[in-house]
Amino acid sequence: MDLDRLIQDRIRDVSDYPKPGVLFKDITPLLADHVAFAGVVDTVVNHHGRGTVDKIVGIEARGFILAAPVAYHMGAGFVPVRKKGKLPAATFEQDYELEYGTETIEMHTDAFEPGDRVLIVDDVLATGGTARAAAELVRRGGGDVVGLSVLMELSFLNGRDKLDGLDVHALVTV
Ligand code: PRP
Repeated sequence: MDLDRLIQDRIRDVSDYPKPGVLFKDITPLLADHVAFAGVVDTVVNHHGRGTVDKIVGIEARGFILAAPVAYHMGAGFVPVRKKGKLPAATFEQDYELEYGTETIEMHTDAFEPGDRVLIVDDVLATGGTARAAAELVRRGGGDVVGLSVLMELSFLNGRDKLDGLDVHALVTV
């Protein structure tokens, strides 16, 4: 099976989660398959090129799983964007609307050196609210957002339209 088909095959549809009528895309079977997981990480790294960014921003929680190995293989540092109240030092915070409610995310104010080139990595781009808020945090922190890489884009939710022309790279489009 080629890599694209393997990745698609390992994303499982779960009906009525997190609420009735929603078809949830579950990536845990993909993460449990080392060929598929490594293939996802390698594809993101090769798309951008090792050494092209200074920091990878990962978004809690599922984004961390992809962003940390991408940072390692890109030769970049890792910066966590977390849900409110989870980071210990001074933070910027940003509110946003999620597909299923509202949320606040935070990032440490000293996460970047001025002008750091930053790639944001997450598992899913849905409505775009999370990615938009993360990009805003990076800008407030003095970083230069060079792009967003996601495993899966739910294109019918038009998340890209919220991202002001940001370079979006998605491995799977639903
Ligand atoms: C999910 C997903 C993305 C976000 C995408 O995170 O991991 O971060 O939603 O949605 P959006 O494009 O509509 O903003 P969630 O907040 O469910 O957190 P989790 O990773 O901790 O489950």
